[in-house]
Amino acid sequence: MAAVTGDTLNIYSHRHYGIDERVNALFTERTGIEVRMVNADADQLIERLRSEGANSPADVLVTVDAGRMERARKLGLLGKFDTEDLDMPDPPDGIGDPDGYWHPYMIRARVILTAKGRVEPGEINRYEDLADPRWRGRLLARSSSNSYNQALMASMVAAHGEREATEWAQAVTRNMARPPQGGDRDQIKAVAAGLADVCISNSYYLGMMLESPDPSERAAARQVDVIFPNQDDRGTHANVSAIALLKHATHTGPAHEYLKFLLSPEIQRMLAEGTYEHPVNFDSSLTEVHREWGEFKIDTDTFGDLATHHDAAVRAFDAARWR
Ligand SMILES: [Fe+2]
Repeated sequence: MAAVTGDTLNIYSHRHYGIDERVNALFTERTGIEVRMVNADADQLIERLRSEGANSPADVLVTVDAGRMERARKLGLLGKFDTEDLDMPDPPDGIGDPDGYWHPYMIRARVILTAKGRVEPGEINRYEDLADPRWRGRLLARSSSNSYNQALMASMVAAHGEREATEWAQAVTRNMARPPQGGDRDQIKAVAAGLADVCISNSYYLGMMLESPDPSERAAARQVDVIFPNQDDRGTHANVSAIALLKHATHTGPAHEYLKFLLSPEIQRMLAEGTYEHPVNFDSSLTEVHREWGEFKIDTDTFGDLATHHDAAVRAFDAARWR
């Protein structure tokens, strides 16, 4: 499986971070394997893989959503890495694919952020609390068309059933300080600016803002506290950056080298510093920001059901008029 000079690896990736280019350049430097990356939305990449079929140049698929990987697997697009002889760490229990078709390599926690001074520590601990009328006019979240919110909603359906999850979505929508607009970062900035007291965001956006070159982003990030929800029950909803070998991959040796490389402590650390996603192995590669947040329990109860409940999640959002 050792790579030879002149080898290539073709990546179809949903990720769009500068750090990925640096990681790939380092991979080339270390192994001599040239990397070609095509970036697009995961749904577009899946469509492209379907139409290219056996002629696809792609060797691996990278997404930021386990549900998209499940979809690719169901469509028969994925092959399987042979990880037996690969010296790499296992992901935390319950967040990988039990069948081994795709491998998580970074963790993306969806958290609750609260305004310092306006929300007391302990006042909100669970996603379920966001439905409490005490947050009327004080809550912000982005649009329901966003895949991060859809996965969170799917986890609520998995935990409570569609009916109860729909009622939750209705109550959360009633609590919003304004109709959904912008991305996660915009919610954090709006809370910092006093428009609302509580918002939902992926934790890595706060990490990026805390370490931003832009002083106004750093200042906004310091106005909020981060809460990893549901620590006393099922855990915090998290999604993953994940990689899969494609069924029609031709550069399988380089693909295996790349998987091993991504999961090495050095690259886990580099990626964590680049995006503030959590490394899959908390012990070896946490940044200062991650250490300050502390370890947290991931919701592994619902993780395997996120793809199953995707359609119910979209229905719940529609019924709630969470736009
Ligand atoms: Fe993101």
